[in-house]
Amino acid sequence: MNALSELPPVARPPGHRHQPGKDVDSFYHLVGCDLRDRPCDGTACFVAGGGRDAHQPRVYCLGRCFAAPARGLDRARPRIEVHSREPIVLGRLAKGGDGSLASYRSAGGGAALEKALAHEPGEVIGAVEASGLRGRGGAAFPAGRKWAAVAASATPDEKFIVANADEGDPGAYVDRFIMEGDPHALIEGMTLAAYAVGARRGWIYLRHEYPFAKEALDRALAEARAAGLLGDDILGRGFHFDIEVFVGHGSYVCGEETALLRSLAGLRPEPTIRPPYATERGHLGRPTLINNVETLATVPWIVEHGGGAYRALGFAQSRGTKALSLNSLFARPGLYEVEFGMPVRQIVEELGGGLRRGQLKGVIIGGPLAGIIPPHLLDTPLAFEELRAIGAAVGHGGVIAFDETTSIAALVHHVLVFGSYESCGKCTPCRLGSRRLEEIFARPDMPSDEVRELIAALRCASLCGHGTGLGEFADSALRYYGKELEPCWK
Ligand SMILES: Cc1cc2nc3c(=O)[nH]c(=O)nc-3n(C[C@H](O)[C@H](O)[C@H](O)COP(=O)(O)O)c2cc1C
Ligand code: SF4
Repeated sequence: MNALSELPPVARPPGHRHQPGKDVDSFYHLVGCDLRDRPCDGTACFVAGGGRDAHQPRVYCLGRCFAAPARGLDRARPRIEVHSREPIVLGRLAKGGDGSLASYRSAGGGAALEKALAHEPGEVIGAVEASGLRGRGGAAFPAGRKWAAVAASATPDEKFIVANADEGDPGAYVDRFIMEGDPHALIEGMTLAAYAVGARRGWIYLRHEYPFAKEALDRALAEARAAGLLGDDILGRGFHFDIEVFVGHGSYVCGEETALLRSLAGLRPEPTIRPPYATERGHLGRPTLINNVETLATVPWIVEHGGGAYRALGFAQSRGTKALSLNSLFARPGLYEVEFGMPVRQIVEELGGGLRRGQLKGVIIGGPLAGIIPPHLLDTPLAFEELRAIGAAVGHGGVIAFDETTSIAALVHHVLVFGSYESCGKCTPCRLGSRRLEEIFARPDMPSDEVRELIAALRCASLCGHGTGLGEFADSALRYYGKELEPCWK
């Protein structure tokens, strides 16, 4: 394997700063935007009484849902607790680690890379496959299968690793605190992935809204390089890999992987049809492994303890643990790591301690592109298939509870304002449908047939998950809160 400095020019991506240009710049909302005093427009802030100012640009979201309604940036950490048999992703954070390499190592971090480099790359992939780990970014695709596909891709020169740190779902702030408080877990996970699939360059695609995560990652990457954990000849084992942080410019849709890769390449980041998949033709046309931050931060534990130990945790087809971020309406908002299978009721009533005040009217898990869970379905287990069956989703694990002061029509309108603002406009059902639905949900007399047709069009004919997710959210509101909406129909 060539050292990084010896890579042929064609295989050395340019610096990949965003190339300013009208066509590309106009896509983003936050080019050069100072977030210091901006109110957050996210859903957690909306249900907490914020997010109603008519300001531009809108900000979805600042990752401070535990203190909503939020304004500007803040280094405060939420409550962090582990409620699984094993602490996989929040253990060090819960103990208050400072994110340094020294504290990572003193808590046992780094052992997985040492172990992996003494084994064949295929064995690392085998452990991830055996673990049953599924992607934590929302789509729940089996991680090991994706890794095996990239490893198997025939390529003349390079393969790449990309960590999706766009964490755009309003209500989700898991990745933010992993990166700020335990960045070496992500770096080690990416390095293990690179070794497993044969990549030498990696990027962390970080959202503009997380400047403190950028600081923490820059510091951690420098520490890792100085300690021989990144760069040429890692740990003296002839393996070369390095990571760069790329900061986005404010666009929810850039979390979708095809859009993200176009953004990384300096192109206008509209989603593209798959196939080809990133595993065959990703960044700069090369095979690329793209995984969410939490997915990658889970891998060191799996490599160290074995795929079987991870698989022993969890429930049905949803193995292992999930980090959840609870919003400010809970009596105990914060980050909680739980095993899959825990009933949503236990999350709401025991971990979250119920609502601070008022009556629970519903819970949105996995962001506003998934369905609402009404109180009578709270016994559903937190698991991919089980939540799907009731029209909801695990998503990225944001948990937003709302009370009786939030009207369903106003909540759906808020989500549609977000949806149409963030729609990239490439396909008609989402570009026009989200805008039209937004207009309709602002009226006291809504044409119910048109609403149902638009929802069906969004769900069936959108090009990417943004449009389909909006349709699913609106559909679940109609299904579970139809009685409340009845007086609104004309
Ligand atoms: C509209 C949209 C937004 C998305 N945003 C994110 C995001 O912010 N973070 C993320 O990890 N995945 C996001 N995804 C999912 C990614 O496309 C992709 O599935 C994920 O990064 C793959 O990593 P995983 O397999 O580890 O989950 C989004 C998908 C869609 C359709
Ligand atoms: S569904 Fe929306 S965000 Fe996705 S490609 Fe179509 S217009 Fe763009």
